Amino acid sequence: MCDSSKRVSVALELSEDLPPYPVLQRWLAEPIKAVVVSTGLFLTNKKGYPVLSRSHQGFLRSLFKLDVQLILTGADRHPEKGVHSYQQYLDHLWQTQPTPDTVTQFAKGYEDYLQCPLQPLMDNLESQTYEIFEKDPIKYSQYQKAIYYALLDKIKPEEKETKSVVLMVVGAGRGPLVRASLAAAKQADRIISKVYAVEKNPNAVVTLENLKEELWGDKVDVVSCDMRHWEAPIRADILVSELLGSFGDNELSPECLDGAQRFLKDDGISIPCEYTSYLAPLQSSKLYNEVRASKDRDKPAESNFEMPYVVRLHNCQILAPPQPVFKFHHPNKAEVIDNSRFKSLEYHVENTAVLHGFAGYFDTMLYKDVYLSPCLQAHLIFQAHVYGHI
Ligand SMILES: C[S@@+](CC[C@H](N)C(=O)[O-])C[C@H]1O[C@@H](n2cnc3c(N)ncnc32)[C@H](O)[C@@H]1O
Repeated sequence: MCDSSKRVSVALELSEDLPPYPVLQRWLAEPIKAVVVSTGLFLTNKKGYPVLSRSHQGFLRSLFKLDVQLILTGADRHPEKGVHSYQQYLDHLWQTQPTPDTVTQFAKGYEDYLQCPLQPLMDNLESQTYEIFEKDPIKYSQYQKAIYYALLDKIKPEEKETKSVVLMVVGAGRGPLVRASLAAAKQADRIISKVYAVEKNPNAVVTLENLKEELWGDKVDVVSCDMRHWEAPIRADILVSELLGSFGDNELSPECLDGAQRFLKDDGISIPCEYTSYLAPLQSSKLYNEVRASKDRDKPAESNFEMPYVVRLHNCQILAPPQPVFKFHHPNKAEVIDNSRFKSLEYHVENTAVLHGFAGYFDTMLYKDVYLSPCLQAHLIFQAHVYGHI
């Protein structure tokens, strides 16, 4: 009735018997501003103080993530402890929330904030953008692990004094994957005879050149070039890249790596070697409003609804488990390489909901058992063109 107006928020009144879990989950996708907690819901603990049941505590804690205000109503049922004992208890619940995990801490402040996906091939990224990449708490250690295993597979223990490998980092940015490669070689006690750091952004190349001069020396060659057109002097044993964006293929990873694989040896290893994208239907009036509000004068009104966005999903509900969409392998040994894809997916949604869009994810096998699943970090929303009930 209110057309999801941003000016209308929800004050949710906690009932004595909480509804089933899926109903509670659905509330977490609504624009809740306040929660009304009646003194009648409180139990009395052994020391005579008011406390909430475990189920009320659990649901309140999940609402805290939405930064809700609490409104206490009703008569004081613990007069000997004073009305402030209710407030103290609620305050205690707030203060004793579990410490957020590393990823949550990393994404703090970016919840439900729509960002346009980067286009590192078309645009030259800014130094600050690389700086944000480099703060990733998981990515580079997983890459280092994958390179470590690849080196162990390429050079057997008995060959470690006599054999070496050539490694290429394509799309090297300001060098974190070069650093991870050199660290992996040290950790594996294997020799990398040369690292080629290939980068097409001239600004990032300046940083790479400085690092070579000050830190890496002759071990690293910086190549200022588009990997699709580079004529490599030698073929690589290991090709390392990170061009996956937030949906696996939205930063042109398959196309760029297909172009670069010609300088990978026939038995060479690509890190990553495989990635898959996933989609799940989603409800979020918050995100729906964010998209609706981002009008662009030069574009038709609907165009914002047909754009993908990178967003840390927060005030939302995923309506059905994600399903795999597209898969890519590297090196691609197909006779004719064709990256065009089409997929039709069917979801079973258990409960009544509003479909606002789709959440997109990807995961990647870097090498063997080393995976990276930024599902937790960056999500991509394909806003549904149709907005209706399912
Ligand atoms: C997502 S960034 C990753 C950078 C770096 N590896 C990191 O982890 O910080 C991708 C990088 O690949 C570069 N790049 C994209 N396409 C390229 C191409 N065709 N040839 C060379 N570099 C490319 C971009 O300029 C950008 O620096």
